Amino acid sequence: MKLKNIDISYPFLILAPLSNFSDNGMRILSKKYGADITYTGMISIYNIIKNNRIDFKILNEERPIAIQIFGKDEELFEKATLILNNFADIIDINFSCPSNKILNSESGGFLLKDVETIKRIIDRVIKVSNVPVSVKIRSGFKKGDNSFEKIGEICEEFGVSYLTIHPRSVTDKFYGDVDINLTKNLKSRTKIPIIHSGEVKNHLDAKRVFKETNCDGIMIGRKAIGNPWIFSEIKNYLLTGKLPLKVSLDKKIETVKEHFNILVNLYGEQYAIKQMKIHIPHYLKGYPGINKLNKLLNGVKSIKELLNLLTNFRFL
Ligand SMILES: Cc1cc2nc3c(=O)[nH]c(=O)nc-3n(C[C@H](O)[C@H](O)[C@H](O)COP(=O)(O)O)c2cc1C
Repeated sequence: MKLKNIDISYPFLILAPLSNFSDNGMRILSKKYGADITYTGMISIYNIIKNNRIDFKILNEERPIAIQIFGKDEELFEKATLILNNFADIIDINFSCPSNKILNSESGGFLLKDVETIKRIIDRVIKVSNVPVSVKIRSGFKKGDNSFEKIGEICEEFGVSYLTIHPRSVTDKFYGDVDINLTKNLKSRTKIPIIHSGEVKNHLDAKRVFKETNCDGIMIGRKAIGNPWIFSEIKNYLLTGKLPLKVSLDKKIETVKEHFNILVNLYGEQYAIKQMKIHIPHYLKGYPGINKLNKLLNGVKSIKELLNLLTNFRFL
């Protein structure tokens, strides 16, 4: 299956949208290690319109990139889309976010209560977009609502390029198991590509989800944080049967530095340090020095201090 210049072929893997975490470093490294598409975290359509642009850079090494948007008002979705046409390879609409702030603004997952508004938003975005448009949903607002069935039909009717489901309800937030039968159900009733998002933690989960749901692709979220190798591990396993090898500490530290350098070069020291403070604990978790490192990381103020900390990590 071809999506403009993007081939959706097995095993199709996507770096999930992850607010706060998804920066150029995370996206470039995920791509380098096998992700087929990367995502930004969700961005407010109001900010895009206010600035008349996006407020971050995009490098070729992180493309194809889906820019994910959220909001409430279909007219403003249309305006934001016209701006994003200049930046995005894919425009993804968020109807899934369960955070209270977003629900209070009647956007994200809140809209799963109101399929008619979803329809109007999709219609307006598709009409003016000159890149593929995708949609990300949960199964419904409350457990058992199953608005995904109706939304699947709408996406098909309006020409959405692919639909991602995180098969929990909005009120489930991140608790309880994902129900992969809902992904399977959506796939069986919908002609457009279906992507599964949720609790794929390793190569074995990926194999099971592809097999049991027949989905066209899988998004990896939390397990890709500090772990860009997960994409190549899954791909190698599914394509050749090769089991993942342990990533060495040296390789991890080298990758942390690579991530850091990307951000320093793009935005300078302060932003890069702020971001690495949230990524490094994930890259290096499980090692004996991690608790000490986390404490010391708090006080880091310069590139030199951060690099020294990494060099000395094994002696902490
Ligand atoms: C820190 C964090 C930030 C997230 N940000 C977004 C977001 O901006 N947009 C979105 O659609 N989903 C977001 N999600 C949900 C993920 O994309 C994904 O659907 C969910 O975490 C389930 O997948 P996983 O089990 O692979 O993490 C976020 C999740 C986490 C943990």
